[in-house]
Amino acid sequence: YRIAVLASGRGSNLQAILDAIAQGSLDAVVAGVFSDKADAPALAKGRESGAVTASLSPRAFASRADYDESLFRLVDDVHPDLIVCAGYMRLVSEREVAARNGKMLNIHPSLLPAFKGLRTHQQALDAGVSWHGASVHFVSPELDGGPVIAQARVPVLPGDNADRLAQRVLEREHPLLLASLRLLAAGRIDLAGSQVRFDGRAL
Ligand code: GRF
Repeated sequence: YRIAVLASGRGSNLQAILDAIAQGSLDAVVAGVFSDKADAPALAKGRESGAVTASLSPRAFASRADYDESLFRLVDDVHPDLIVCAGYMRLVSEREVAARNGKMLNIHPSLLPAFKGLRTHQQALDAGVSWHGASVHFVSPELDGGPVIAQARVPVLPGDNADRLAQRVLEREHPLLLASLRLLAAGRIDLAGSQVRFDGRAL
C-alpha cells in the first residue's frame, strides 16, 4: 500500500506514519513526500526515510492550476494508492481533487464541521466549546468539507491557550491518522459516492 504525503511544515504526522511502518504496525510504504516549502522539516524526514521527495515553490507558477498540475505529476510518478495531506497548508484545485476522489485524505485539527480553515485551536477557545479534537476526512473540493472517516475528541481545560490545546490535540492526531490508514490499507474503508463505507456498510 503506497502512500504519498503532502506536508508544509513540521511533519510529526508523517513521522508517526514512518514510525508505525518501521515498527510493523502499518503495512504500507511512504513512497513520496512533497512540499510547497523547500525547508519544511517534513521533507527532511521523508528524505531520511528513503522516500522520493520534492518541493515546488508556488511562486514559480502563474496559477494554482499550473502549480497543482506540476505537483501532482510528481505525486503520480510514485504511484500512490493514497495521498495524505498532513499539515499541507495549500488548497488543492478542484480538478486535481476530483481526479483523486476517495484517494486523498486530510487530517484537520478540529471536530469538523466545526472550525474549518486556520487557527482552529484559537477558534475553539474563542467559541468557548468544552470539546475540541481532530478529524481525518476524504478531501473534497470544499475546504475541510469532505466526508469524515474518524474523529478524536479532547477536552478543553481551564487555563488552556491555543498552544496547549494544540499539543493535546496533536497527541491524539497521530493514533487517529494511523487507525484510519490501517483501515484504508486493509480495504475496510472506502468512499462510495459521498459516503464513507466501513466494511461494506455505510457509516
Ligand atoms: C496538524 O495539526 C494537522 O492536523 C494540521 O497541521 C498540523 C500538522 O502537524 N493540518 P505536523 O506537520 O504533522 O506535525
